Amino acid sequence: MKEDNILTVDGLCVSYGKFNAVQNVSFSVRRGEIFGLLGPNGAGKTSTLSAVEGLLKPQGGTIIVDGNDAVAKPLHARASLGVQLQSTSFQTELYVIEVLRLYAGIYGVPMSKNDLLGILREINLEDQATKKFGQLSGGQQQRVSLVIATIHNPKLVLLDEPTTGLDPQSRRQLWERIDAIRDKGHAVLITTHSMEEAESVCDRIAIIDHGRVIAIDTPQAMVDKHRNDPEVIAVSRRGRVTLEDVFIALTGKAVRG
Ligand SMILES: Nc1ncnc2c1ncn2[C@@H]1O[C@H](COP(=O)(O)OP(=O)(O)O)[C@@H](O)[C@H]1O
Ligand SMILES: [Mg+2]
Repeated sequence: MKEDNILTVDGLCVSYGKFNAVQNVSFSVRRGEIFGLLGPNGAGKTSTLSAVEGLLKPQGGTIIVDGNDAVAKPLHARASLGVQLQSTSFQTELYVIEVLRLYAGIYGVPMSKNDLLGILREINLEDQATKKFGQLSGGQQQRVSLVIATIHNPKLVLLDEPTTGLDPQSRRQLWERIDAIRDKGHAVLITTHSMEEAESVCDRIAIIDHGRVIAIDTPQAMVDKHRNDPEVIAVSRRGRVTLEDVFIALTGKAVRG
């Protein structure tokens, strides 16, 4: 029987030297679900995603992607994954269509020039096919990198702060693309520190801080559960409790570096 979870992370620990960036983190992502990892800067979001992707070896815990152990069988696990990491930057001197062709090749998805142009048409970039990737705007680059992350139709897409720096239109468009991934029955694991984003796109969220998960629930249930906490009321504004109030109350007011 196919497992309900496309991803199960259990007791994950990631260290950099003596520093424990991720400490005993557990959560799971169901098939067809958009799951958000929320946390302040330095919380351990990117480290968690990097371990799921197999880019770094965890010091402890297990990661199962689509039934495959990501540590023992990273290639099997990676076949089910599409990844858009925070620091992804493509060869800026390549033409947009070449970037697409390159990654279609890397992912083993044969595509004709017409296929590639069709993809660019879908993301409203057909006219930019012969521009260099580096000449695209931030939002346009982001669209290309998402399309590349999903070019092989992966069952789980990892997105690390994909909307940081995007204008509202591009952000909305990305949210629609994320919904479209779910409509295909696939799942998305997204990191963000935008509460609006979490409430708008995520079915469930985990709040993570100092490398630990401190709450997992639907955005609405999380607000309802903490609505009457004195710490939440103390930080709420204009008499209305939002997910951001809960987030601030749970993670503290101190600004992170
Ligand atoms: N390569 C690295 N070497 C040492 N420390 C790192 C490295 N990458 C991340 N860290 C530290 O690990 C913690 C978690 O980082 P990260 O996972 O990038 O957090 P987030 O993505 O939530 O902002 C931070 O304190 C960060 O400074
Ligand atoms: Mg990060």
